[in-house]
Amino acid sequence: MSKKVVVLAGDGVGPEVTAEAVRVLKAVSTHHKLGLTFEDALIGGAAYDAVGSPLPDATVAACKSSAGILLGAVGGPKWADIPVQHRPEQGLLAIRKALGLFANLRPVTTVPELAAASPLKAEKLKGVDILVIRELTGGIYFGKRGRTAQAAFDTCEYTTPEIERVCRIAGTLAMTRRRKITSVDKANVLDTSRLWREVATRVFRDEFPQLTVEHLLVDAAAMHLLSRPADFDVMVTENMFGDILTDEASMLAGSMGLLPSASLGTGSGPGLYEPIHGSAPDIAGQGVANPCGTILSAAMLLRYSCDAEAAARSIESAVAAALQAGARTRDIAAPGARDWLGTTAFTDVVLRHLAAH
Ligand code: IPM
Ligand code: MG
Repeated sequence: MSKKVVVLAGDGVGPEVTAEAVRVLKAVSTHHKLGLTFEDALIGGAAYDAVGSPLPDATVAACKSSAGILLGAVGGPKWADIPVQHRPEQGLLAIRKALGLFANLRPVTTVPELAAASPLKAEKLKGVDILVIRELTGGIYFGKRGRTAQAAFDTCEYTTPEIERVCRIAGTLAMTRRRKITSVDKANVLDTSRLWREVATRVFRDEFPQLTVEHLLVDAAAMHLLSRPADFDVMVTENMFGDILTDEASMLAGSMGLLPSASLGTGSGPGLYEPIHGSAPDIAGQGVANPCGTILSAAMLLRYSCDAEAAARSIESAVAAALQAGARTRDIAAPGARDWLGTTAFTDVVLRHLAAH
């Protein structure tokens, strides 16, 4: 079995946060004798600048022969005006598609010590532990599209098998948790959502009868995420709704910089692991980005692609311990605080906690 981790640093803060996550992975690999090796490859704007494509063939080949892929972020104002097919984001969408990574797991949890970093009241945040499953290779991101000078269109398409397979992943994961599923759609308006609700209802009824299932319209779900976040266990939804709802949900945790994700397919192919935040061009190169989302994505890589649950947990515990001990990056520091840590110094604290356990 391949032990190779391909690192796609990408753009903006991507190289800064992936470098720190790789330090953590190397430490854990030594300690748990995982024998991981690392290979860098190009994606996004960096790849476009170097070789003229946001997803070079060499990158796809490297990824296909890996155990798992750690990705930073893609995109930035530098590439805002280049032809659509060369945009950095296309590289990310294309690698997800090329590897068949249709299920994007985005866990959202809160730690009491960070309650002040969230815009929500602390009592609402108690017990929040949500796993959002976002469908990742269908919907409006991949449908037919077109553009003339005065008009444009994007189409949202879903097939029954695409909905079934992501609902099965959601159902399977919900069975290991609090056994509650919330399926999110816009079935009062969209045909794709009516199909989504029909298929989700059948899959959960026939294959996961032990689950409690609720269906919410996406506008209501956006509100309920703020009014009763602790009620949710597993949420499953289509591509664009999942993109939007998880940025919203990151405010429960306190910062976009905290949330990891895993993108998985079926079978034994590699998964792709990335923070949910973007390339943050406004702070790129300053050494102040929060590495937690990427470090926690590395933990998910160990869990889902390397069968190394104990190593995954040791990373998660070390990040939690660093936060509990008061280590803060700028995005989660108390207003006016001066003692926040840069990306590398924060990771040093995580590494110290890792070594101590
Ligand atoms: C995400 C990002 C991407 C997406 C962009 C960069 C294409 O926002 O992973 O959430 O929309 O999927
Ligand atoms: Mg997003």
